[in-house]
Parts: sequence; structure tokens; C-alpha cells
Amino acid sequence: MARHWVIRSFIIFPYTLLTHFTGIIGYGHIGSQLSVLAEAMGMSVIYYDVVNLMAMGTARQVPTLEELLRRADFVSCHVPELPETRNMIGQQQLEQMKDGSYLINASRGSVVDIPALIHAMRSGKIAGAALDVYPNEPTGNGDYFNDDLNAWSSDLRSLKNVILTPHIGGSTEEAQRAIGIEVAQALVRYVNEGTTLGAVNLPEVNLRSLTMDEPNCARVRYSFNTLALGLLLIIYLQVIFIHRNVPGVLRKGNNAQTQEDVHPVDICSERNT
Ligand SMILES: NC(=O)c1ccc[n+]([C@@H]2O[C@H](COP(=O)([O-])OP(=O)(O)OC[C@H]3O[C@@H](n4cnc5c(N)ncnc54)[C@H](O)[C@@H]3O)[C@@H](O)[C@H]2O)c1
Repeated sequence: MARHWVIRSFIIFPYTLLTHFTGIIGYGHIGSQLSVLAEAMGMSVIYYDVVNLMAMGTARQVPTLEELLRRADFVSCHVPELPETRNMIGQQQLEQMKDGSYLINASRGSVVDIPALIHAMRSGKIAGAALDVYPNEPTGNGDYFNDDLNAWSSDLRSLKNVILTPHIGGSTEEAQRAIGIEVAQALVRYVNEGTTLGAVNLPEVNLRSLTMDEPNCARVRYSFNTLALGLLLIIYLQVIFIHRNVPGVLRKGNNAQTQEDVHPVDICSERNT
């Protein structure tokens, strides 16, 4: 505890948040919640997202990432890990940020080019950063966060203006419970309805489900190999046909249906690779 009166040198933010902009990249579940919190602390909020999304409170969507970076005092990343978001904040984007601004990344470790960030922080361009996620993370408690894991780990740890946390953004008791329920519900919906919303390894499909109340209805899911067999057994059904996008595969499926005298009433085709 400080024993003497200190006005400026030890305070984290030696200015009021009221005049500052938070820039949120990715305005989904978490980004939009952050928007509410930042605004409650008196900050102005701007956000950038690839989708046009309704703003919370008085937040404003900006059309380009560059505009967000040029205007925000605090930039916070909340995008998924995708090829397009890899190194989304690299040297060029760091240069576009305001002098003396701050960067927060609690999304995925691949989103920020950390060597470029280290350079920007050493030069004073970026006043500070808080990171919760890293390209390579220790696999368990007790493992060391050292240069064997990421070549720049000790450089990052040596910075005085950085807060590093061990991927704890979603580690509250409530969040863990919510994740458990969400995953279980996603599996149940897939098994019962063929819905793949939220899947990372399949196209996202949200199908109208046939219910057992509908006359002569049954629901069956096939892989391609079992398709013909399944059609022999049940006459009225909803087929969810998951296949690779290779030439001729739809024809084979159609032929199988024709052979078994199946008349599709509603066909939804999603391309998969
Ligand atoms: N640190 C942690 O412990 C922790 C916990 C939970 C989630 N996460 C991560 O936080 C991130 C956000 O989670 P969420 O639940 O809000 O996800 P979400 O899917 O609800 O929102 C992501 C948003 O990013 C947008 N987006 C996608 N690509 C974009 C791009 N190239 N540019 C701009 N916007 C883009 C999407 O349109 C969407 O609105 C995810 O990467 C997730 O894995 C981390």
C-alpha cells in the first residue's frame, strides 16, 4: 500500500474514461456485452463487424477496421479464429492505432501478431496491452509459459506495460456451466433435428424438424454408405444427407431415392467440402 499521497505516477489511467472511445472488433455475444459495460463506465463505443448488427445503447458501427483503429483509445478483439482473422492485428494495424492507445485480446491467440505488438509497445506506440490468449498455450496447470512454447514469450513477459492472464476469459463458474448446457443442447438438436448451428466442421444448417405428431413421419440420419439401407426400412422420413462435395454424389443420392420409390417433398442442399 502506498504510504504517501500520489496523484499521478501510480494510477493506471491518469485520465477519465469519459472522453475515451472503446473500439470493439467483433460485435457478437461477448463484444456486445463489453459494449454495455464500457458504456456504463461512461465511454463512447464504436465497433467493427463483418455483419451489420444492431447497436447496444449509443454504440455505433463503423464501416472499416481502419476507421475503428484510428478512432479508438482502447481496442478489444472479440472475433472467432478464422483464416480471415489470423494476424488481423499486425504491424500495419498497430501503426493505424492512435499513439498511446491500448490493445486487449481475449478472443483467440492467432488474432494478434504478438512480435509486432511487442515492437509497438517497446516503441511507445501502444501504451499497454492485456492478453488472455496466445498462439501456443500450456496444456495444463503448472506448465511454463516460456520460449519453448512461443519464441517471443520472454520478450512479452519482460514488458512493463502488459497484463498477461492464462486464458481465463471464460473460466467463471457460471460461464463453465453455461458452456456445458450449450454443448449438450447443440448435440441434442443435432441428434434430434439435424441442426448443425455452431458447428465448426460442418456447414451450419437449421432445418425445420419433422415431429412424431405429423402423420406417417419418422426421422432418420444417414451417412452416404447407409443411405440405401435406410430407405428400404422407412417410407416417410426426413433425410439429412451429409456428403463431400464431389462430382456425382447428389446423383447417387437421387438414384438411391428413385430406386426405393421415395418422393422428396422438400430438398435443402448445403455444399460441403
Ligand atoms: N478468453 C476466453 O476464455 C474466451 C472465452 C469465450 C470466448 N472466447 C473467444 O472470444 C471470441 C468471441 O466470442 P463470441 O462468443 O462473442 O463469438 P460470436 O460468434 O458471438 O461473435 C463473433 C463476432 O465476430 C464477427 N466476425 C467474424 N469474423 C470477423 C471479421 N473478420 N471481422 C470482424 N468481425 C468478425 C462475427 O460476425 C460475430 O459477430 C471467440 O474467438 C471466442 O472463441 C474466448
